[in-house]
Amino acid sequence: MKNIYCISIVLIAISICLVWSETNVTPSEQCEGQNFEGLRERIQVKPCSKKGCKLRKGTNTTVIFKFKPEHEVKTLVNDVYAIVAGLPLPFLGVTGASACAHVTRSSDGSPVSCPLAAGEEYTYSNVFPIESYYPNVDLRVHWALLDGKKNVICFEVPAVITPARRN
Ligand SMILES: *[C@@H]1O[C@H](CO)[C@@H](O)[C@H](O)[C@H]1NC(C)=O
Repeated sequence: MKNIYCISIVLIAISICLVWSETNVTPSEQCEGQNFEGLRERIQVKPCSKKGCKLRKGTNTTVIFKFKPEHEVKTLVNDVYAIVAGLPLPFLGVTGASACAHVTRSSDGSPVSCPLAAGEEYTYSNVFPIESYYPNVDLRVHWALLDGKKNVICFEVPAVITPARRN
């Protein structure tokens, strides 16, 4: 009886490990009224599981995504916020900042500067800290790059802010 108990614990542990190891999928969703092709394949937020992204206080979250502007982009501004209980809250240092310096050319990883050319694929990457004073809440991260009022790319991911790991 004891052996069966031990074996099932081991099996459960193994399956949990398997689930966690294939978690490099970001469950990104379209923003309201938008429809960007192949959104799931383009967006990578770390760390995430299939259900959502876990933003642990005291750690950094990495956001990487590819986009291809349809028109020449003169200015590129981060329109990033957390939607908590229906209210938008800014991420400090990200919201409203210029995004051009975070963009590279997808083909060779070389840095670019704005304006960006139409039809070329670009990669955006950014790392931002989860501050200790953020509330522990479920939220949606809304991430868009704006050229004026137009979305060059936009996605949302469900996320949760969790307490810092204790040492
Ligand atoms: C988060 O990123 C900043 C800036 O790149 C770095 O200085 C810091 O050490 C990182 N923190 C962690 C916990 O990785």
